[in-house]
Amino acid sequence: MKTSKIQLNGEVHEFPIVVGTEGETGIDISKLRNQLGVITIDSGYGNTGSCQSSITFINGEKGILRFRGYSIEELAEKSSFIEVSYLLIFGHLPDKKELEDFMHDLTHHSLIHEDMKKFYEGFPPSAHPMTVLSSMVNSLSAYYPEAEYKDDQYLNIVRLLAKLKTIAAFSYKKSIGQAYVYPQNRLSYCADMLNMMFAVQSTSYEVPKVLEEALDLLLILHADHEQNCSTSTVRMVGSSEANLFASIAAGINALSGALHGGANQRVIQMLERIKNDGNNYKKYVEMAKDKDSGFKLMGFGHRVYKNFDPRARILKASADRVLSELGVKDPLLDIAKNLEEIALKDEFFIERKLYPNVDFYSGIIYRAMGIPTNMFTVMFALGRLPGWIAQWKEMRETPGARIYRPRQIYTGENLRSYTPIDKR
Ligand code: CMC
Repeated sequence: MKTSKIQLNGEVHEFPIVVGTEGETGIDISKLRNQLGVITIDSGYGNTGSCQSSITFINGEKGILRFRGYSIEELAEKSSFIEVSYLLIFGHLPDKKELEDFMHDLTHHSLIHEDMKKFYEGFPPSAHPMTVLSSMVNSLSAYYPEAEYKDDQYLNIVRLLAKLKTIAAFSYKKSIGQAYVYPQNRLSYCADMLNMMFAVQSTSYEVPKVLEEALDLLLILHADHEQNCSTSTVRMVGSSEANLFASIAAGINALSGALHGGANQRVIQMLERIKNDGNNYKKYVEMAKDKDSGFKLMGFGHRVYKNFDPRARILKASADRVLSELGVKDPLLDIAKNLEEIALKDEFFIERKLYPNVDFYSGIIYRAMGIPTNMFTVMFALGRLPGWIAQWKEMRETPGARIYRPRQIYTGENLRSYTPIDKR
């Protein structure tokens, strides 16, 4: 076994080297504190591997993303969201029978308990759908308390995958004051989601194929992304043996932030701001370079991708196709392309290797599909769900997995005596 040497206070200590199947190398410092009495500090965990995982491989320098060894490009072209979900969670592409059974189970668990509808009534109409989504997912623990037991794992996984789209669509219907549309077993996963969002009781509605296919692609592209903020949150919460629903609800909350999944909503808000300001892209590129402006190019930059985000490349091509098939001409798409072109020629972005990420073009497609801006991050959550589940399951099945519990370097006051209130 290869080792690495760390020298501290004149003493040399050896630590094992761990090499992944794609040659990524890490120093295993799990015995560091025991041996040397010190810890590592790594702000934002940019250099810390929190686990070994066989689910998703990313090479950010080369713009590679693979699920269980299959390239995102090939999955986007040939697979479906349900098949990709199965692949991520169970580790292999399903055969015909496995896929049929999985689809059957997903359609037959899509109803939510009728009492859960009462929760929607309690939220103010202005509630953000991500807040509603995480609360509703958390409440599933109350309806399925047996989720605490391991032997119900498959059932709970299927329940969560099947119900998340119902929960999300109901929260949309509530926000626009329309009656809930119930799930339909005859529809595919994506068609059912769109039907629950866009159908109304007074008239018939058929989900256009182009919308169904566009959603399927978007969900595949979002399905997993190894140890990002929300996935690490799911693992962190799950490491205490919190149940699946509680862990995923925490992941949804992590995803809602502007620097993570919430960026897709902010991209559209930024593009609208630029449009309303006379399409002055240059001004906004300059603002993004000025740290004091407090303005960032939303949908740009990534912790891992230092070349291009392969998902953004697929989405850029898809945006052109979907908008033309839907006959939508969106000025925001042109603004986005111009902004990208200007930014990619600018030394600030080149030097820092800042490229458009998955959120840069996804919002334009969601908009063309008629999905309101505040639902964009909910769609991201729907896509990311199989990844979160797969990572949670992998963590739970890892022998000897320990509770996540980082250390810190304390920088506060040293011991001092308590001052009575009249002397402060
Ligand atoms: N606009 C302008 N400057 C930027 C941007 C941006 N969007 N992103 C990074 N930078 C600068 C940053 O100021 C820093 O400059 P310097 O080295 O001079 O201090 C440098 O680039 C490195 O950035 P960082 O903030 O250290 O990078 P990070 O890895 O900590 O953060 C990020 C990654 C995605 C949070 C960040 O790029 C960002 O805030 N982007 C905008 C929000 C966004 O689009 N988020 C979606 C991410 S992809 C979907 C997902 O998985 O969530």
